Amino acid sequence: MASAKELFLWCLVLVCVSGITEAVTKAPVVQVYSRHPVEPGKENIFNCYVKGFYPPKINVTLLKNGKAMPDVMKTDLSFEEDWTFQLLSYVPVIPDRKDQYECRVEHSALPTPKIIRWDHNSWSVTVRHHWTRRSKVPSSPTSL
Ligand SMILES: *[C@@H]1O[C@H](CO)[C@@H](O)[C@H](O)[C@H]1NC(C)=O
Repeated sequence: MASAKELFLWCLVLVCVSGITEAVTKAPVVQVYSRHPVEPGKENIFNCYVKGFYPPKINVTLLKNGKAMPDVMKTDLSFEEDWTFQLLSYVPVIPDRKDQYECRVEHSALPTPKIIRWDHNSWSVTVRHHWTRRSKVPSSPTSL
């Protein structure tokens, strides 16, 4: 027969464990941008950077006119100081203003998939370089 003190301790453990599990579920933050300033007809890289999520299970799909693009590459999953994860998916593109590019992210912390559109009108201001220092290009294309 468990003593009251024992039961109390078990309850405390359960509360802590469920509290931790809840606390570490974090929805991803999604950013889309090109590697180079966009010029229609000129080769570029469409990037979808996903960060701040937990657990690490995630699906990132790059879409062109609503269809999943083939030959999408991604960096290794890496984590930050707060144990949330980050990932970069990217694919070479030749942008054309008539094409629509989007990044679709599925994660357990999101009630519905998050779809972020690569905005044609802000193409020229969406260049970011912060990833290049840490990026590791996989030796072979990986599909998600
Ligand atoms: C990722 O996609 C697979 C296959 O469609 C699905 O079974 C899985 O639940 C998805 N994962 C997440 C985190 O949404």
